[in-house]
Amino acid sequence: MHKHTRVLSMELDSATGLIRKTDVLYSAEHLPPGIPVRHGTADRGLLNEWWTDRSIPASRSGIREALETMGLSNTGALLVRCYGLSLSDQYWICPEDSGLTWDRINFFDHDFSDDIGDVLFGAEKKADRLDFSSPDNTSDGNLKKRWKILDGTRCLVKGGSNPFRQQPFNEVIASEIMTRLDIPHIPYTVTWSKGAPYSVCENFVTRDTELIPAWRILRTQKKNNSVSVYQHFINCCETLGINDPVPFLDRMLTVDYIIANEDRHFNNFGVLRDAETLRWLGFAPIYDSGSSLGYDKMPAQIRSGKEVVCKPFKNHHEEQLRLVSDLSWIDFDRLTDVPDLITDILSADGADEYVGKDRISAISDSVARRIQKLAAMSSGTAPAQAGPDPASTSDDVETNIAAKYN
Ligand SMILES: Nc1ncnc2c1ncn2[C@@H]1O[C@H](COP(=O)(O)OP(=O)(O)OP(=O)(O)O)[C@@H](O)[C@H]1O
Ligand SMILES: [Mg+2]
Repeated sequence: MHKHTRVLSMELDSATGLIRKTDVLYSAEHLPPGIPVRHGTADRGLLNEWWTDRSIPASRSGIREALETMGLSNTGALLVRCYGLSLSDQYWICPEDSGLTWDRINFFDHDFSDDIGDVLFGAEKKADRLDFSSPDNTSDGNLKKRWKILDGTRCLVKGGSNPFRQQPFNEVIASEIMTRLDIPHIPYTVTWSKGAPYSVCENFVTRDTELIPAWRILRTQKKNNSVSVYQHFINCCETLGINDPVPFLDRMLTVDYIIANEDRHFNNFGVLRDAETLRWLGFAPIYDSGSSLGYDKMPAQIRSGKEVVCKPFKNHHEEQLRLVSDLSWIDFDRLTDVPDLITDILSADGADEYVGKDRISAISDSVARRIQKLAAMSSGTAPAQAGPDPASTSDDVETNIAAKYN
């Protein structure tokens, strides 16, 4: 089902959550973008790929222990225990003849159980049975996370990776930078639980909308080897009628350069659409910018920047920055306090336990250096840069893989 629309009848394996058979196709246009129709039904292999991507990845921090507590052998089995409902899109499964409706069971209007979130955060098995009705079963991403209803608002609470646990603070720093650049983004705050930091952000999807990750958009057309990943993405947006990808990408790639983001894969940005009319509503506010600012590196590596990787279009930030066609929108005067801001956020009480002084100055110095470089490029005083060449495939990223954490 797609909210109220019947899409496809299929057979699921409840032990693995895998789609065993796809049957009658009721609405091809409501299929997830990028799933082709073959012989009158949805391509089962590609539908399974999308469906599995929608479950908790096997590489999620702490998932092995959590599965053991739940008595399950894989995360796919969780999908069928909450009707596949999510807080990021509007797809779900309606068991045949159950009479269930989206209005009756969706997680936007109805509360959900804390059981699965508790287990994902390390709780022991409860004496009574676990209540599996939770959007945590369909949450993507490798960092430990859970959905919580805080003061009536659905919020995503997400941890950081060892040893520095920097991601929650990085999310706040990235939010502050994007506020200064007037870039639509999701604001994050930091909360503490059992001595560890977590980021908190509100759900940007509503009962009427949904997030279509850029990865789905990329899969709507076959890419020709001679076309760059960047150009391919723009072509897909144009064909689908998604407006203004270039100004959006200019802003996202610029922020990612400033914070040296290492994990902007194609599931870490996307487009919002109306889940009933399928109308595109524009790019989603920027989220998940935490794996940046040398989050897993030592101060010397942060200063040299040599081992910093880049996604989603180019392997190196300097190359990816060349895809930005316009820097004139940046008000550099508003960025002057950013190095101090970074120092303040990373040396706040609690954060200082994870992030040492040497590290903080390496981070804020390297951000200051990258902002200076951008300013020089913008004013034309940087060493001559060849103009952006969106068509060049040189240094292109070849696979869409998220960073994995210990
Ligand atoms: N505020 C939000 N509202 C709705 N959906 C969200 C929100 N934030 C994240 N999501 C969805 O949840 C997924 C996981 O969140 P996020 O990307 O922040 O986690 P992560 O563990 O940092 O991911 P990664 O594996 O990329 O490091 C996102 O890919 C997106 O689909
Ligand atoms: Mg992510």
